Amino acid sequence: MADLSYGDAAYWDQRYSTKGSPDEWLLHWTSISQVFEKYCGEHRTQWKFLHAGCGNSALTFEMYRAGYRQITSIDNSATVIQQMQEAHGEDGLEWFCMDVGEMSLAEQSFDVVIEKGLLDCLACMEDAHLATAKCMKEVIRILKFDGFFFCISFNHQRAPSLTSAPYHFRLCELQRTAALGAEYYVYVFQKASASILSLWPSYWRDLRLRLSEEDYRLIDQEGTWTDALDAQVGDVLEVVEDFDSGDQEAVRLTRGLRGILHFRDRDGDAMVRFPRLDAESVDRFVFEEDVRCSMRKRVAQQQPAAKKGAERLLRALESESGFSRNH
Ligand SMILES: C[S@@+](CC[C@H](N)C(=O)[O-])C[C@H]1O[C@@H](n2cnc3c(N)ncnc32)[C@H](O)[C@@H]1O
Repeated sequence: MADLSYGDAAYWDQRYSTKGSPDEWLLHWTSISQVFEKYCGEHRTQWKFLHAGCGNSALTFEMYRAGYRQITSIDNSATVIQQMQEAHGEDGLEWFCMDVGEMSLAEQSFDVVIEKGLLDCLACMEDAHLATAKCMKEVIRILKFDGFFFCISFNHQRAPSLTSAPYHFRLCELQRTAALGAEYYVYVFQKASASILSLWPSYWRDLRLRLSEEDYRLIDQEGTWTDALDAQVGDVLEVVEDFDSGDQEAVRLTRGLRGILHFRDRDGDAMVRFPRLDAESVDRFVFEEDVRCSMRKRVAQQQPAAKKGAERLLRALESESGFSRNH
């Protein structure tokens, strides 16, 4: 297990096949039952619950003991799912070996999703941002509207990313628990939007290409243009004439399309990310040697002398009088 980490599926499989005793990550049921009962207690027999990334935690059957009757538990370790299935075949408990990023569960079929340590685990993966996004998109897909998402985590900063675009969860409650020198956070979110589902193809593509709002802003700026042969990583390029690679996985670039030079290796190969290109193959679009297809590079706009002078004057005034532009 030496080279494996929490982010590797093989790590968990090995851990579950070699370790005799069960794990319980972060918090036990007794520490979260109160807040859980507050939101779900009334509906314990009717609602459907999903424990995502269940491992061999006692959470599922502690919930069952507390009267929750329809609980599905999933994990991508086949080993642990088999162990749990054999140990807990109670009526109403279902165990599936499944990836949280590709759940074979019907849309809007669950009232509540619980994750305890799963997002923390995905955060250890090499492509953590992709794994987390896939998981969250699936959580939103299978949750009913107004359904609850319980997130139990080491991370005290989960809320901003999950309550903003593209997930738009509503944060109902956040509890901080300190135990044995560590701090744990219990978040109760509610599904308030499903817009991620329609946005998903372009959102996923931008994530894979690591495109951000800032990239879109960057390429939209105006500037003057010059030959792109000496373009450096981060430069904005523009296609000067239509380009068609003509091979099997044809790439078509239309005149005027702008992108950002993403990397350039020692041989001079360059890859350009085109935020507004809908072709699937865009992330594999590598120019060999120099930027071969006809491109030009944007030259940073020089500030007009008058504007520079005014800026200098303003800075001098600021330092003399303590006056700040933000005031
Ligand atoms: C930190 S453990 C938490 C286990 C359990 N929820 C608990 O509280 O003790 C993370 C679990 O997530 C599972 N996991 C990691 N990546 C997964 C994925 N992509 N799909 C499903 N399960 C995953 C691991 O196998 C592991 O059992």
